[in-house]
Amino acid sequence: MGNFGLILVLDLIFLIYPVVYGYDPMDPMGNITIRWDVTTSTEVNHQIRVSIFNYQLFRHVEQPGWKLSWDWHGKEVIWQMWGAETTEQGDCSAIKGDTPPHCCLKEPVILDLLPGAPYNKQVVNCCKGGVLTSLTQDPEKYVSSFEMSIGSASNDGSGPRMPENFTLGIPGYTCGVAVKVPPTKFHEDQGRRQTQAVATWDVICSYSQFRASSSPACCVSLSAFYSETIVPCSVCSCGCQGQRSAAQCVKRGEVPPVIQLGHNELPTPILECTRHMCPIQVHWHVKQSYREYWRVKMTIRNLNLVRNYSQWNLVVLHPNLRSITQVFSFDYKPLDQYGDINDTGMFYGIKYYNDMLLQAGRSGVVQSELLLHKDAGIFTFNEGWMFPRKISFNGYECVLPSPDKYPMLPNISQFLAPSILTIIVFSFCLILTMF
Ligand SMILES: *[C@@H]1O[C@H](CO)[C@@H](O)[C@H](O)[C@H]1NC(C)=O
Ligand SMILES: *[C@@H]1O[C@H](CO)[C@@H](O)[C@H](O)[C@H]1NC(C)=O
Ligand SMILES: *[C@@H]1O[C@H](CO)[C@@H](O)[C@H](O)[C@H]1NC(C)=O
Ligand SMILES: *[C@@H]1O[C@H](CO)[C@@H](O)[C@H](O)[C@H]1NC(C)=O
Repeated sequence: MGNFGLILVLDLIFLIYPVVYGYDPMDPMGNITIRWDVTTSTEVNHQIRVSIFNYQLFRHVEQPGWKLSWDWHGKEVIWQMWGAETTEQGDCSAIKGDTPPHCCLKEPVILDLLPGAPYNKQVVNCCKGGVLTSLTQDPEKYVSSFEMSIGSASNDGSGPRMPENFTLGIPGYTCGVAVKVPPTKFHEDQGRRQTQAVATWDVICSYSQFRASSSPACCVSLSAFYSETIVPCSVCSCGCQGQRSAAQCVKRGEVPPVIQLGHNELPTPILECTRHMCPIQVHWHVKQSYREYWRVKMTIRNLNLVRNYSQWNLVVLHPNLRSITQVFSFDYKPLDQYGDINDTGMFYGIKYYNDMLLQAGRSGVVQSELLLHKDAGIFTFNEGWMFPRKISFNGYECVLPSPDKYPMLPNISQFLAPSILTIIVFSFCLILTMF
């Protein structure tokens, strides 16, 4: 009995484990779904439409983009592909025919075509270089698609089978098994006619920061109008200077090394040297208090000398966001995953104005101010209430300073307490009046 109990508990832990790690409380339903639609099929050849949906509220797929891959079960081949291409053709010598197949590898790796691909290679939703925006930021660019015709080179005449072991080729994501779902319906002729897939499978991929990288990429510093203390980012938030695992850094005034920018990968970060060693620093300044409102100034600084962040976003959790009155210089959308709490929102750049956070330097900064209503019952100057509970940049959680370091309100009793000088003057006057 005891043993069974133990086994049950172990089983449960095992079952819950991957779910826990893929879970982000700021985006509990967030996932990337790979949809596999068999649009036409004969016994030996299938026409497939693959779509990648970024169903995440704020995390996007940045350059160099997705790099989809899977394992075929047997001798499947990809005859042709539109809207994407495999990185390698592989050995197609066993296949007889006039035109060689596009790819004969057991584990093909597929790249989205770049914008401006030849017209006869394009399909709907293709050709974005693998980059996908989040659902919130640009609902028109959160899906990517390509088409292919596949067949099988096996001798027994069986058709191609649904592959396994999907990967997106983006750090931090793991994909589950393909699950058969009701066939997708397609709209044709401007919505007047509906057709449907022969069969449809979904593969759900989820993100975990733990898997993406072991060290954080962002930290928060704090200040307030009522205190002279500026609470800096905690030392070694993202790494310690000089440590082997930390990023390379360049002291202010030193000339950074020349780097070659490859077009298919991100350069390894070269940071401005700081005590926190984070590529991104967010500063939250409580700027002013009015009778009914209070004002926050938010500054995001890029400290990476070799990276521009396009379409950056900042997700903030603060109980007063439900009464946000005005946001200057940034766009804002509340993220209401839990219905009526409304304490989480996403800030992002205004298109063509500040949606690109430039590399470190004088222009590597974006700023905004927020006006919030002082809600009766919840607003308080005490206990660091005016500071954010959580912040993430592009979905990377930022390290907050420990709460005992928060800017303190000037102590009222201290103001009222008589200084030694007043006591002396007072006693002196008292003595004078006595004579
Ligand atoms: C993935 O996201 C879609 C769209 O938001 C949602 O309907 C689905 O339930 C999600 N799946 C999982 C496993 O979270
Ligand atoms: C999928 O991956 C597992 C584990 O690596 C492997 O055993 C299996 O053979 C793979 N599936 C295919 C179809 O290759
Ligand atoms: C970032 O953008 C600026 C201005 O467009 C450009 O001069 C710079 O080379 C870019 N840096 C990187 C690392 O791409
Ligand atoms: C939260 O937002 C929703 C929709 O944006 C709104 O209907 C609801 O009243 C808000 N709740 C609070 C407590 O402000």
